[in-house]
Amino acid sequence: MMRRCAVVGNPIAHSLSPTIHRMFASQVGIELQYDAILSPLDGVVGTLNSFFASGGLGVNVTVPFKEVAFGWVSSRDAYAGAAGAVNTIVATNGIHRGYNTDGIGLINDLTTNLGCSLSGKRLLVLGAGGAVRGIVGPLLGSSPSCVVIANRTVARARELIERFEDPRLVAANLERPGEAFDVVINGTSAGLTGELPNMDGSALRGSLVYDMVYGANARVFCAWAIQMGVARVVDGLGMLVEQAAEAFRLFHGMRPDGAVVLRTLRARSV
Ligand code: ATR
Repeated sequence: MMRRCAVVGNPIAHSLSPTIHRMFASQVGIELQYDAILSPLDGVVGTLNSFFASGGLGVNVTVPFKEVAFGWVSSRDAYAGAAGAVNTIVATNGIHRGYNTDGIGLINDLTTNLGCSLSGKRLLVLGAGGAVRGIVGPLLGSSPSCVVIANRTVARARELIERFEDPRLVAANLERPGEAFDVVINGTSAGLTGELPNMDGSALRGSLVYDMVYGANARVFCAWAIQMGVARVVDGLGMLVEQAAEAFRLFHGMRPDGAVVLRTLRARSV
């Protein structure tokens, strides 16, 4: 029987998930139907119920439904629990288990595709919203020496680090986050409105700078980082591919090669 998976979001037309999952399927040689489903903003529970009732195997959940999906699933993995958000749901014998593969996607892109080990490194994360909540656990799991969470609203950064109770986590004001970081990760949503986070650019000096979003949404921040003299600036396309690779493994039990798909997408100037 044909395996059926889908990505659910609103909006959804822009989603690269169908392209990525279909490329993975042909890479590992399975037949897969993978659709993009536009869910009504107030109707994602109905969308998930009917997809799985019709025999669907797995769903990727994107903006703005990751928190509702967290409440909908019957069980969750530890990363989803820490994030309070689910981006992958797998149905097994009528049980719907939720996962969050965003953080694993980021780590795999940094360590495997970009060859940047995080062990013993000083990391700076900009932002303290939902996107950042999803990556803190996996970042801590990569043995950095410290992770500074710098946010415009510093109280929100403090709240976030309290959830994790890890001495390597430090909250800071976005305007003055400190310096000498090995890796700086932009997890603010500023780029979505074409804004730059208001911060001291010297925090970026000598670092690998990574934007969690890709394409047009990453343009302003990445261009500014280059202007600040940063030698290595990367957008989040690889994170998108790698979170999908991990979701694909959860759906089908086979790990596709994310780097191959990433190279193809880059060649198409995504
Ligand atoms: P997401 O799910 O994308 O993380 P969110 O939970 O609304 O969305 O969080 C957005 C994050 O981007 C927050 O850290 C926000 O900072 P505040 O907590 O101070 O609001 C940050 N952010 C959004 N626009 C920003 C801007 N122009 N400059 C700096 N930070 C910004």
